[in-house]
Amino acid sequence: MSTPLVSEVPASVDSPEELADRFPASFVWGAATSSYQIEGSVNADGRGPSIWDTFCAREGAIDNGDTGAVAADHYRRHRTDIDLMARLNLGAYRFSIAWPRVQPTGKGPVNTQGLDFYERLVDDLLERGITPWPTLYHWDLPQPLEDAGGWPRRDTAERFAEYAAAVHEVLGDRVPHWTTLNEPWCSAFLGYATGRHAPGRREPQAALRAAHHLLLAHGLATRALPDDASVGITLNLTDVRAASPAPTDVDAARRIDGLQNRLFLDPLLRGTYPADVVADLAGSFELTHVHDTDLEVIGGRPPAFLGINYYSPLHVAHRAEPQRSAYVGAPHTAAVDGGGARTAMGWEIDASGLRALLRRLHAEHPGLALYVTENGAAIDEDVHDPTRLAYLRDHIEACADAMAEGVDLRGYFAWSLLDNFEWSFGYRHRFGLIHVDYATQARTLKDSARWYADLLHAARASA
Ligand code: NOJ
Repeated sequence: MSTPLVSEVPASVDSPEELADRFPASFVWGAATSSYQIEGSVNADGRGPSIWDTFCAREGAIDNGDTGAVAADHYRRHRTDIDLMARLNLGAYRFSIAWPRVQPTGKGPVNTQGLDFYERLVDDLLERGITPWPTLYHWDLPQPLEDAGGWPRRDTAERFAEYAAAVHEVLGDRVPHWTTLNEPWCSAFLGYATGRHAPGRREPQAALRAAHHLLLAHGLATRALPDDASVGITLNLTDVRAASPAPTDVDAARRIDGLQNRLFLDPLLRGTYPADVVADLAGSFELTHVHDTDLEVIGGRPPAFLGINYYSPLHVAHRAEPQRSAYVGAPHTAAVDGGGARTAMGWEIDASGLRALLRRLHAEHPGLALYVTENGAAIDEDVHDPTRLAYLRDHIEACADAMAEGVDLRGYFAWSLLDNFEWSFGYRHRFGLIHVDYATQARTLKDSARWYADLLHAARASA
């Protein structure tokens, strides 16, 4: 059992029991991680190099020269971590499978030792009554595939479908829901346009090709899995707001909404690219990489569910001078301060954005099952973390509010189970419910974890 709430927690609208009562018994409560951010053991059991191993070795790419070589050492401590998940009363655990462990060169026969790790993980989760929610790709592309051209190359999408089928072949009997990709926007635009993420390329045209081939990879993988498999995708979506009612700001917001949200949602759920985004891009980029039949592959079998990663709303303004950003098709736009409190990442805290986003998705895509697959905050508070606790509580309340308005939200996964490697920020920022002392690998439940455990306990009790 978890210990009681800490005293400094800001006043809540709901107690854990009242909040839990606002969700149906079938609601999935979980926490999330990803392979490169927690596993370490990058040379174990035949794993091949990924683009993140290569990128981390590049001078200046990652704060403090940090790498994922050890991370939270989860590869060797997964049983301890499952014990912690059980203490948190998790019903589900969202993790990712490292492609370079399964296919060290990104193609060809499966490296059984690598896939065995995930088989053990899945079996150990099931033994504790925790449902495994794997994501097939959370950014760790096998380096040989990048050497051959990476996501801007069509072939990578075909390789991904083979990899997906190989994993499903082994784990399909024990895993109820499959997520193909995590946040393809980041893979495409941070990986190939700004270069802030691996592979660190700054080629806007290549970023657009990557975005399309990631969507194609999702479609091909969906086709490669059995017809009755539940296959979804996770997108980083946000509530985009114009900085003012001025027509130029409103148009800037339309453009960012197009590139951040609709460039991915529309092909997957409507089988088309949004016409306004295509028109905006057409002047500066060529789109010949989109073949005639691709949209049928991408949208022909709509996702069984949509995973939403939400952290912050985005306020957008027009700028007369062109800006350099990840939004390659919208140079005359900039993100501006919305005025609210911010996390250590500089991201504005505003749970109303999650409620608005959920309402919008439900209105525009009725019948689509939604899951919040990531939500959380980097707060530089240690084990006593009232700000993170309030962040989680307010966003979970926003989920309940949206559901009361009819939104078909079926689950919520907190990001993250553990403190971990936060990409180009290294270990500087901590998102975990559970504190990790990287020197000793000691795990300590933060107050937010104890609160979440109480909520999930109450949810179980009322189920
Ligand atoms: C989204 C990504 O999926 C995850 O890897 C990352 O750590 C969090 N956002 C926080 O930035």
